[in-house]
Amino acid sequence: MNVHSYEKLWLVAAMLLIVGFIATITYGSVGIGIAMIDDSQETIDPNEISDHEDFGDPGVEQVAENEYEAHVVARSFAFRPDPIEVPANSDVTFYVTSGDVIHSFSVVGTNVNTMVIPGEISSMTVEFDDPGEYGVICNEYCGSGHHGMESQIQVVPENEFDLTELAVEADESVAADGEVTLTATVTNGLVETHETTLEAEIGDETLEEEVTIDGSDSEAVTLTVDAATLGEGEHDWSVAVDGETERGDVTVGSDADTDTEGNDD
Ligand code: CUA
Repeated sequence: MNVHSYEKLWLVAAMLLIVGFIATITYGSVGIGIAMIDDSQETIDPNEISDHEDFGDPGVEQVAENEYEAHVVARSFAFRPDPIEVPANSDVTFYVTSGDVIHSFSVVGTNVNTMVIPGEISSMTVEFDDPGEYGVICNEYCGSGHHGMESQIQVVPENEFDLTELAVEADESVAADGEVTLTATVTNGLVETHETTLEAEIGDETLEEEVTIDGSDSEAVTLTVDAATLGEGEHDWSVAVDGETERGDVTVGSDADTDTEGNDD
């Protein structure tokens, strides 16, 4: 049988195409760095996300030296937290879930891309070497605000990264001869000991306090100023540590209503 040479050529081309298709499909399911979402993943009730111990207050936590976990919640049309701050030279495992419809968590310029399905927790581990910024976008059409659904991953230098939280308790009013006391509780979410400086302003008074907090622990720092130094009236206060700030005000004197007309001080 004589097969025309053009026919042979087309036959070979068709075979190559078929082999090519099979190869890409195989790579797409088992290739290095490619993982599919399957039923082996953890599940979650999308209506109970706010009560979930990790997704209720999503964010980054340290689990070991240079190892972090980031819990992210996707909802029409935003990601929480935004931005997601992680340190350089770290391995970060992202756990992402959705509170409503199907979204995606795609890190622009990388092969990090996963569907985010309500009820499912998608996870993937990403290595961040150098400081930088990455955009995060939603790749699944999820509604009218889909095109604007984005977040950011900020990879900060290791020595600038902290997981500090601040809570301040303060009196609302103090007697004129009393003391204004602020109790600042500083929590260190890192595994390692963290040294930092607490800065406070009460009225015109500035206070500074060095704090050393053990890993995964918290320290309470008490700051006091004599009410007499501040004078009667309402005074603003602020306490700041590692970029976290708490504010409030305190009234000195029994007569809280010190409406001093013409006082432009
Ligand atoms: Cu969320 Cu598109």
